[in-house]
Amino acid sequence: MSEAKTRINKDFTNAPMCLSGRGVTRVFTAGRTRTVAVDHVDFDFHVGEFVSIVGESGSGKTTLSKMLLGLLEATEGEIQFMGKPRDISTGAKKREYWKGIQAIFQDPFSSYNVFHKIDSVLLDCINMRGGKNLPKEKKIEMMTEACSFVNLKFAELTNKYPFELSGGQMQRLMIARIFLLKPKILLADEPTSMVDACSRATILDMLLDLRDETGMTIIFITHDIGLAYYISDTVYIMEHGKFVEYGKADEVIINPQAAYTKRLISDVPKIHEAWDLSTVDLKAN
Ligand SMILES: Nc1ncnc2c1ncn2[C@@H]1O[C@H](COP(=O)(O)OP(=O)(O)OP(=O)(O)O)[C@@H](O)[C@H]1O
Ligand SMILES: [Mg+2]
Repeated sequence: MSEAKTRINKDFTNAPMCLSGRGVTRVFTAGRTRTVAVDHVDFDFHVGEFVSIVGESGSGKTTLSKMLLGLLEATEGEIQFMGKPRDISTGAKKREYWKGIQAIFQDPFSSYNVFHKIDSVLLDCINMRGGKNLPKEKKIEMMTEACSFVNLKFAELTNKYPFELSGGQMQRLMIARIFLLKPKILLADEPTSMVDACSRATILDMLLDLRDETGMTIIFITHDIGLAYYISDTVYIMEHGKFVEYGKADEVIINPQAAYTKRLISDVPKIHEAWDLSTVDLKAN
């Protein structure tokens, strides 16, 4: 890959653990068809780490995300949260767990209640974080700060509905929600696939800022290994439900071991090779 990377990956090997899994598996059965969507994966995600899970369509990324979020049960395996076996056996325990882990999804339109105005979307976050009885001015100040973190103007949004925003603005509103909710872990499943390249770069930079400012762990799900290299400390490469390789982003991408990783890397368009401007005679015209 010819794109130079300016950020330096931190080494998280000795950082405290926030989410880890052993043998995590999910099998779907429909009639006689049995699909092993996630197949005995092990992982260790640390506090403040930016992790990407990279794989092609159907490799099991969303199924794993749903298990991490506690929206789907694992058929086998164990998940630990903040060093203890995760217990989401009751509704109350699940709600408590969701204070610690939040998600933003591929399609921001599906994440909002269309009948709720934007200020109530943000107010809900403040209430969820125990701010229900704060004075109104304080709540407005918090919402204004969250909007300005993602370059949105709260005053211009208060009376709008989510569907009145563009795809990029919606994704930024999702990030403003996370800014207010301050979970320990943010899971982002292809959050940039619906937006143009310019909004994509902005959203990625906002996720990095969010991590730097709050110390949140970010689990970023993508099919794009170039993006994963740009943004993450650690990458996990997923093929047919298994992790075929993982490690520091630089090491995995500069020196890939698995054939699958090598193929993903060779599929990244080599923009600089295809458009080799050094050979163009600019004076010719
Ligand atoms: N509810 C379900 N019932 C049956 N099979 C499922 C279900 N959900 C996912 N699968 C199967 O599990 C496998 C993994 O799907 P998953 O959605 O996790 O992939 P993905 O990596 O997120 O793909 P994409 O990049 O397209 O989003 C696929 O073969 C899919 O068909
Ligand atoms: Mg998916």
